[in-house]
Amino acid sequence: MTDYEQAARTLREPMPGHAGLVDCARYATLAANGHNTQPWRFSLSARRVDIRPDLSRRTPVVDPDDHHLWASLGCAAENFLIAARAQSLHGDVRFDPADDGGLVLDLERGPAGTDDLFEAVPRRQCTRSDHDGRPVSAADLEALEDAARIDGVRIVYILDRPRIETAVEHVVAGNTAQMQDEAFVAELRQWLRFNDGQALDTRDGLYAGASGNPTLPGWLANLVFPLVFRTGSENDKYARQIRSSSGMAVFVSAQDDRAHWVKAGRAYQRFALKATALGIANAFVNQPVEVPALRAEFARWLDLEGGERPDLVVRFGYAPPLPMSLRRPVDEVVD
Ligand SMILES: Cc1cc2nc3c(=O)[nH]c(=O)nc-3n(C[C@H](O)[C@H](O)[C@H](O)COP(=O)(O)O)c2cc1C
Repeated sequence: MTDYEQAARTLREPMPGHAGLVDCARYATLAANGHNTQPWRFSLSARRVDIRPDLSRRTPVVDPDDHHLWASLGCAAENFLIAARAQSLHGDVRFDPADDGGLVLDLERGPAGTDDLFEAVPRRQCTRSDHDGRPVSAADLEALEDAARIDGVRIVYILDRPRIETAVEHVVAGNTAQMQDEAFVAELRQWLRFNDGQALDTRDGLYAGASGNPTLPGWLANLVFPLVFRTGSENDKYARQIRSSSGMAVFVSAQDDRAHWVKAGRAYQRFALKATALGIANAFVNQPVEVPALRAEFARWLDLEGGERPDLVVRFGYAPPLPMSLRRPVDEVVD
């Protein structure tokens, strides 16, 4: 086993039967998060956990309003609650958007509970490869929607081929705008980790292997990246990947504010864990919601109600797992 594989595995060791809150925080850090910046700090006490944003890990170009940052905190909070329940601690997320502090989880003792979502926490990943084209059954789509149900967020599925083709057009338009924005490419470049050594140095960012790409020595990556990271080829890749998936899901929140962005993250995390339990892969294609002008058009196409925001866009289907991504050790994010 390589050092990288060992590190990825150690992070994901199954939680022992009698674990503490630090182990719950470790499970929380395994959550999905934008560019794998891991923009969180945890404060742990017996009955109260605070999850605060780490604003030094913002990505202001792709995420100017911090939407993804708050959604990422929602993903982590959901994992935390699922892990805490296994330790007989039950709670919910309290969040006052007027208060810049962050999310508060109030925990109370209750019966220990584990379920398929808990088992899936260490196995969940974003699978950014081609999927194999097989359809997901109607029963599984319903199970995913049920698992993801959070007040204030709904899922809009895009399932039939003509609608998927229109969604491809929205993704390609968003991707084209981003690829032509030098600031976007520069910010993304900062978070790319081209080989095991780079990934192990920072234990954050987007590791080439976890995106289905070959790993390269740093000097070669610097030469090759500008040559292969081109608008046309990236657009073709996204179109092909979406067409290889069974369908797409858009997470839509009832209101466009931080509290709802957190909820959208929680709903997505639950969806992704249920998908993992069912053997279904998923990956984000957020371009149509990341470019503000295009987001309004995308919302119109989806026929959303006034006030609703399309938060997150994923494609889902069947594919073998890719290498898992890394996280910083939990001690580095617990105060
Ligand atoms: C709010 C949010 C936005 C994201 N946006 C994208 C995206 O646009 N494209 C993408 O490929 N992955 C996206 N991701 C996935 C992250 O890059 C991924 O969760 C992170 O690299 C960790 O990898 P893992 O989920 O496989 O553990 C997003 C995740 C979150 C929570």
